[in-house]
Amino acid sequence: MNIVVFGSGIAGLTAALHASEDGHIVTLVTKGALGGGCTPLAQGGVAGVYGPGDSPTVHASDTLSAGAGLADAAAVDVLVQDGAVRIAELIARGVAFDRAPDGSLLLGREAAHSHARIVHAGGDATGAEISRALVAQVRQAAIEVIEHAFLVDLVVDGGRVHGIRMLRHGGLVDLEADAVILATGGAGQLYAHTTNPLGATGDGIAAALRAGAAVTDLEFVQFHPTVLAARPAFLISEAVRGEGATLLDDEGRRFVFDSHPDGELAPRDIVSRAIARQAAAQGRPVQLDATMLGAERLSARFPTIDRVTRERGFDWAREPIPVTPAAHYLMGGIATDLDGRSSLPGLFAAGEIARTGVHGANRLASNSLLEGAVFGARAAAALGAPTRAALPFRSHFLSLSAAQSDRKRDLNEQFSREQLQQLMWDHVGLLRTQAGLAEALGTIRALRAAGPVPATLAEHEDANLLLIAEATASAALTRTESVGAHHLTVAPALIGA
Ligand code: SIN
Repeated sequence: MNIVVFGSGIAGLTAALHASEDGHIVTLVTKGALGGGCTPLAQGGVAGVYGPGDSPTVHASDTLSAGAGLADAAAVDVLVQDGAVRIAELIARGVAFDRAPDGSLLLGREAAHSHARIVHAGGDATGAEISRALVAQVRQAAIEVIEHAFLVDLVVDGGRVHGIRMLRHGGLVDLEADAVILATGGAGQLYAHTTNPLGATGDGIAAALRAGAAVTDLEFVQFHPTVLAARPAFLISEAVRGEGATLLDDEGRRFVFDSHPDGELAPRDIVSRAIARQAAAQGRPVQLDATMLGAERLSARFPTIDRVTRERGFDWAREPIPVTPAAHYLMGGIATDLDGRSSLPGLFAAGEIARTGVHGANRLASNSLLEGAVFGARAAAALGAPTRAALPFRSHFLSLSAAQSDRKRDLNEQFSREQLQQLMWDHVGLLRTQAGLAEALGTIRALRAAGPVPATLAEHEDANLLLIAEATASAALTRTESVGAHHLTVAPALIGA
């Protein structure tokens, strides 16, 4: 079969490699450079290596409990059962996970895990190492790579996906395929504060929505608790708290224990809300204290964080650093079965873009790289029997009509991406109210109605963000009870910037 994989994080790279090794003709398309996106930024690791007393069953139980009752047990079972094979595969493909002096894998612990079962690479550079190894494999495989292409839409005919339309070098190009695997990640750029790169504008989810694929659980947006409270946002891995760092209020008190007996290692949504509330109450960011770990251990275990925080003027070995929550991960997305199949024939999804059911209302730390590897491989395996017929490119070069240009000017007067991001942060973020959600939805709908037919890459991204913002606010409004990352308050929910 001719397969298009869009996206080059862990899910896309894995899917492309597996599909190619299974004999499919694979074209891997990516928005930026090969191996860009969220994966190389991932500090935290891959969950799923079990020491004494631990097992896939216990990992499944932790995953289900973080998911607040909304994770799908069958999907979680697949995740933890396939996990060991995928981690072994990553090692075989050249990923150098950190090891103890005796050669065994070093296991770390993160929030809401009952055991140390997380492997890292380069201390806090796990995603970068995975990306490096998989990109090297893709470069050597019989995979055509198209970089710097923007996914405009899925090509749908007769209720089936037959390829993609992309924007490349200023023109529209159609790429036909027997099946498309979307692995374009989430939509962190919906929010004023995010750990996601600038390209995380939800292009794949928006294309799937327009094509009529089932998209679900968008109201479940995970906010990472600890991002350096200085711009640009920089993640301070949960593994830092896993090693013993504490969260302190203005009086030096470990305030998260007021919200949960596990304190700093409580589920992410609980820690994030506790931080947001405390920061609002004291009028400034809370502090993450890692000083007890000492300079030597901090630089050895977290070399990237150590370097970047120092570059930003913080010496975390000597004093606590200010942290804030930021949008990190989308639990919802394109609804898939256990093999990555979407509701639309010919369309598969894997990684953050997919709603496989493994995360429910709140993802367990370090389950996302694992999910990308597991479901990227499963989607490729489900593609069907290989064929060898080559399919041609078709190109369309379109220009803006005068009418579209006029509408574009209207939008520029009324819309800015920053305005949307602040609106989402204030009303569709960590702490929500029904009134705030309704207000946000009204504003988003008005902005969408005033929007132009997108032509440039930035306009396509804005249109995608607006579409997903509408779907997210609408889904959040429909869910009238708090669960996991979707948290309704009765009091005013604005938590400030
Ligand atoms: C982190 O290092 O805290 C991020 C890990 C994750 O999001 O799973």
